[in-house]
Amino acid sequence: MSDHNPLPLARSKAAVREATKAWQAQGQRVALVPTMGALHDGHLSLIAAARRRADRVVASIFVNPTQFGPNEDFASYPRDEAADLAKLASAGCDLAYLPAAEEMYPAGEQTRVVPGALAEPLDGASRPGFFTGVCTVVAKLFGQVRPDLAVFGEKDFQQLAIIRRMTEDLALAVEIIGAPIIREADGLAMSSRNRYLTPPERRIAGRLPEILNKVATRIAGGVATDTALLQGLGDLEDAGLAPVDYLELRRADDLTPLPSRPLRRQEIEQARLFAAVMLGRTRLIDNIPLTRA
Ligand code: PAJ
Repeated sequence: MSDHNPLPLARSKAAVREATKAWQAQGQRVALVPTMGALHDGHLSLIAAARRRADRVVASIFVNPTQFGPNEDFASYPRDEAADLAKLASAGCDLAYLPAAEEMYPAGEQTRVVPGALAEPLDGASRPGFFTGVCTVVAKLFGQVRPDLAVFGEKDFQQLAIIRRMTEDLALAVEIIGAPIIREADGLAMSSRNRYLTPPERRIAGRLPEILNKVATRIAGGVATDTALLQGLGDLEDAGLAPVDYLELRRADDLTPLPSRPLRRQEIEQARLFAAVMLGRTRLIDNIPLTRA
């Protein structure tokens, strides 16, 4: 435990499990909120959601090497342990789990959790191996912490769907809770990677949710999907949100595509709009439903 921070820390799987086991022995429900640190209000909203459903909240911070591609930002991913711990303490977290890399990937380890069709489109197509890295580390965290429930953000909607499926398929006995996207005042979804943006880029970034909302409104209003998506693609490129990695409409439950014609009411209710774009060297992702709940 550190001197100045009131938040207890565990750096080994033995230490984290000792704590969660003691709580569960007293009949307390334990929630886990997995993160890669560089925490913002989006992450803290997951802590709050966990607090409402559990007696104890564990947050993990681990920048997981297996979910980064060779040309991605693993080395430069923002790391700020002191600031993160202070935020977790004030958000009402009970224990921070900060495993060393050898704790998660000890010498000799060789097993990977490979997701299925849900991991094929969208980020799975753009980032080979990404969701295998995510599933593997989340399965390890579940095994180490053995939480009763775990909270994930809809910011990474495909990740949430894949983790739900994995947890069910492998009978991991963890209740998975999805939490809504927390946004900045201009609508930009909060992300650890937003701190890469220069001030001019930051101003452009706010156009991403604005354009997504416009596309969603048009599709919900009866414009054919392919027409609205094509116009949205042009709008993104004109705004400088390019290259566009994807702008796609899919069913929220199984991530299969929707027809290119004008959609029926039920299809509109089931649909979710997904985008990934580059802004300079930063990759931004976002997603929205077509209709407000
Ligand atoms: P990270 O990007 O740090 O995100 C941790 C959790 O915070 C994820 O569940 C993510 O969806 C959620 N989150 C991020 N921004 C959010 C926002 N603006 N509003 C609501 N929730 C938000 O996602 C990961 O880390 C990793 O892949 C991980 C699951 C930890 C596995 O390594």
